[in-house]
Amino acid sequence: MRIALSFLLTVPVATSSAVQAFRPITEEVPRFSSLMSTNPDAPGDSTRQDDLRHSPASTRIVGGAEVANINDYPWMGRLRIKVKKGEALCGATMVSPDIAISAGHCFSEALGANETPQSVKVDLGHLDADASDAQGTTFTAQGWKFGTSLMNDDWAVVRLTSPLPMTSYVKLPQDTTLDHAAQFRALGWGKTSYTGPLAKKLRYVDLPYVKPGSEKCNEYIDNFICAGNGTLATCGGDSGGPLLAPGPGGPNSTSPQEWTLVGTTSWNYACGSRDKTPGRYLRLSKYLPTIKKAITELGGTMPQS
Ligand SMILES: *[C@@H]1O[C@H](CO)[C@@H](O)[C@H](O)[C@H]1NC(C)=O
Ligand SMILES: *[C@@H]1O[C@H](CO)[C@@H](O)[C@H](O)[C@H]1NC(C)=O
Repeated sequence: MRIALSFLLTVPVATSSAVQAFRPITEEVPRFSSLMSTNPDAPGDSTRQDDLRHSPASTRIVGGAEVANINDYPWMGRLRIKVKKGEALCGATMVSPDIAISAGHCFSEALGANETPQSVKVDLGHLDADASDAQGTTFTAQGWKFGTSLMNDDWAVVRLTSPLPMTSYVKLPQDTTLDHAAQFRALGWGKTSYTGPLAKKLRYVDLPYVKPGSEKCNEYIDNFICAGNGTLATCGGDSGGPLLAPGPGGPNSTSPQEWTLVGTTSWNYACGSRDKTPGRYLRLSKYLPTIKKAITELGGTMPQS
């Protein structure tokens, strides 16, 4: 079976040789891609032509829209991991004044063997994909921990150097109830179609829940929530960003502190364009004990629950 794993992570890379090892999503999309992205200008990979054949030529990704006001999602962060070959770009969500949650492959796929990041930063408080330290919205991390297996362990915890003066965070799930909300919302600066460019402004998309065990959601179902239908999906560059369950009023009337982080964007098949398959989001309810342990080890502030 040939699988295309598209990482929803973005790593602008200085050299293309390093990319080939893990093939994060670029214009070049791995068969089965995590949704991290690398240098959007990196050369393509001809081996995936038959994969691209399945992509709708110019669909908007994945069906979302631009976020109008960052204050609706004040806890939405852009994770920047500086490594030898460039910078990995992912989504991240603040769950307490100094703790962001993201995806493990944002680290593991960007780093070489025995390499540690040169710096890890989180941009907060703006819609633009290109923030700068000068805007005063970039915060430095002092510590991080992450799982290294995409299929079994795709979590990351990042601790900022100093706590932010923020008052609303995303909630963490109390149990598994919200793992099967009727609809979720995902956020990210990822690609707006499988073969398209990265978004310049933060986007959101509301994704239908797909039942585990169904034909299109039958792999690693204990570890991932399936959501999306190909027309509505996350894509390269969205890795690590939130899959959110709305409050009782539905996604359009949920206030910033009412959202629950049920998943983090992990991988899919060609951004869902292949056979209209759903995206896979790490099932946070399962990984909470691991994540809480990591927060304790990093000396970070435990999220309230
Ligand atoms: C996905 O869901 C949206 C909203 O219900 C719908 O408009 C679209 O046609 C669906 N796409 C597929 C491939 O089923
Ligand atoms: C939320 O608002 C958008 C934009 O106005 C609309 O297209 C969508 O149908 C709304 N969703 C729900 C669940 O009402």
